[in-house]
Amino acid sequence: MTTEKGLKLVERDEGGVDPVFRSDVIEGLSQEQKAIPARWLYDDAGSQLFEDITQLPEYYPTRAETEILTERAEEFAARIGPGRAVVEFGSGSSVKTPLLLEAIAPAAYVPLDIAGDFLRASAAELAAKFPGLPVHPVEADFMRQVQLPEEVADLPKLGFFPGSTIGNMVARTAVDLLRSMRETLGIGAQLLIGMDLIKNEDVLVAAYDDDAGVTAEFNVNLIRRINRELDGDIPVDAFEHEARWNDDYARVEMHLVAGRDMTFTVGGRTFTMQKGETIHTENSHKFNRRTSNMLLLAGGWEPQERWLDSKDRFSLILAEARPPRSAP
Ligand code: AVJ
Repeated sequence: MTTEKGLKLVERDEGGVDPVFRSDVIEGLSQEQKAIPARWLYDDAGSQLFEDITQLPEYYPTRAETEILTERAEEFAARIGPGRAVVEFGSGSSVKTPLLLEAIAPAAYVPLDIAGDFLRASAAELAAKFPGLPVHPVEADFMRQVQLPEEVADLPKLGFFPGSTIGNMVARTAVDLLRSMRETLGIGAQLLIGMDLIKNEDVLVAAYDDDAGVTAEFNVNLIRRINRELDGDIPVDAFEHEARWNDDYARVEMHLVAGRDMTFTVGGRTFTMQKGETIHTENSHKFNRRTSNMLLLAGGWEPQERWLDSKDRFSLILAEARPPRSAP
């Protein structure tokens, strides 16, 4: 797919498969600790399973963040003010976006997403809900600096990055993203970002290992996708889902655990795993006030305000891109 600006987004090879998926999987399975980037969890089935996860009793982040957006609308309005262009990184959080837009009376809405069809559909839905609000969808990889539409060039900006998606990145990647958001939005911009909080380990692990087995299905679906798209023969039934707390890195990790010794092929390559060996499929970092502030500052954003839900489970942080100045 090529945009007007000639920027290549999602490539397809002869088999209709994204070659980046192929190389990520082959490289990831070749490592000592096998690992596959979490973004590949989200094919059609995986995206639907994630929607199901947000409804689970154990998975509190979506409900907690939605509660903050609902209950603190007046405070958002006071801190952010009207007339901003809201730039959402990864569009389509169908419930959260309208809550924010209703709270702050923005001048425009710019959803950014790499998935063009999904982007246009959710942009149209939003435009219908907010007649009179200019909506300018931009198909782009928001991990890189994005050229915003001319129509919003002179408006003050508010970046919106809900869901604690920043938590799926290791620190170095998260800082890269925050810095590129700063480049995209400019000095003076604000950023409203969701970050899930460190809490009791059992609560955290349960959120990623629910009783109904939906998260397990979400994780195992990655193997199904590999087998289907990359002509693999990984024995799906020989793997078990595991969610584990990594205290050094303050993150919940998802792994796929091999239930027996095995040999399989993917894309014509052969791999072996020993019983108990894992494929690491996701990190979900959790934060406290100091670590979230540190991460934002490292990315060039000054924290301004922080809101928690009524059970102190999740944070929404408002930060600002200040002009660089000398400091001790
Ligand atoms: C919404 C992408 C941040 O890490 O909590 C949910 C994804 N993975 N259950 C998260 C996810 C397993 C989720 N993010």
